[in-house]
Amino acid sequence: MSQRIENAVALVTGANRGIGREFVAELLRRGVKKIYLGARDPASLADLVALDPARLVPLKLDVTNAADVADAARIATDVTLLINNAGFAGGQGVISAPDLSIARQEMDVNYFGVLSLSKAFAPVLAKVPESSIVNVLSFLSLVTLPSAGTYSASKAAGLAASRSIRAELLAQGTQVVITMPVQVETDMGRSLPEPRLQPLDVVSETLDAVETGVEEVFPGELTRTVATAFAADPKGVQAHMSTRLPA
Ligand SMILES: NC(=O)c1ccc[n+]([C@@H]2O[C@H](COP(=O)([O-])OP(=O)(O)OC[C@H]3O[C@@H](n4cnc5c(N)ncnc54)[C@H](OP(=O)(O)O)[C@@H]3O)[C@@H](O)[C@H]2O)c1
Repeated sequence: MSQRIENAVALVTGANRGIGREFVAELLRRGVKKIYLGARDPASLADLVALDPARLVPLKLDVTNAADVADAARIATDVTLLINNAGFAGGQGVISAPDLSIARQEMDVNYFGVLSLSKAFAPVLAKVPESSIVNVLSFLSLVTLPSAGTYSASKAAGLAASRSIRAELLAQGTQVVITMPVQVETDMGRSLPEPRLQPLDVVSETLDAVETGVEEVFPGELTRTVATAFAADPKGVQAHMSTRLPA
C-alpha cells in the first residue's frame, strides 16, 4: 500500500511546533491540497496559517479531549492522511517519579491520543481509495531509556497499538506508517545527547515512506545506525541504555 502526497488532505496533530510544524512545511512543498492543523491552542498557529491561508485550516485539538477529537472528525471529513504527531515527554523514571501523574499524561497523549484519533478518523479514511495514518513514535518504542522510563512505556504501547491498527485497517485499504526516530532537535529533544536529527530528516523520510509503502521507518542516518546495532544485539543496546538513569 502507498499514497501520493500531492493533492492529499492531511491532518497533523501538534502542528504548532517541533516536528509537527516541519510536517506542515514539507507537506505544503509536496503539493497537498489542504492541511488541518491541530493544536491545543489555535492562537499558536496564527503565523503558520498566514503562510498559506488557502490551504491551512486551524483546529482546536487536544488529543486527550474526547469532545475535541469528535469535533475534528465532524469538521475534517475530507482527510486522507492523518499524522499522529502530538507527543509529551515528562523526562522521568518509573520508580523515582514522585507519583503517577506524568506517566498517566504520557499515556493519555502518546497512547490514548493515537488510539482516539485513529478510531475517530478510520471511517473518514475508509471513504477514499488511498489513505494513511502516520504514527510518530520513537526508537524508545523498542528500547527503554530509564531516564525517560514512563515515556518509553507509552511509546512502546503506541507501537503495539499501531501494529494492531494496521491489521484492522488493512481491509479498508488504509496504510499505517510508523516512524521511530532517535533524538531530534526540538523543544522535546534539546536536552538529549548530541548529535541529534533535524526535524526535516524525520519528516522527509517518513513522507517518502508513505509514498513508497514502507511500513516502519528509522529516519535519518543516526537512527539507522542505532537500529542496525539493535538488530545485531538487542540486549547489548538495552544494557547500554539502562546505564542512563534518572537524575
Ligand atoms: N524530539 C525528540 O527527540 C523525539 C524523538 C522521537 C520521537 N519524538 C516524537 O515526535 C513527536 C513530536 O515531538 P517534538 O519533538 O516535535 O516535541 P515538541 O517540540 O515538544 O512538540 C510537541 C507537540 O505536541 C503537542 N502536544 C502535547 N500534548 C498535546 C495534547 N494533549 N494535544 C495536542 N497536542 C499536544 C505540543 O503542543 P503544545 O505546544 O500545546 O504543548 C507540541 O505541538 C512526539 O510524538 C514525540 O514523542 C520526538
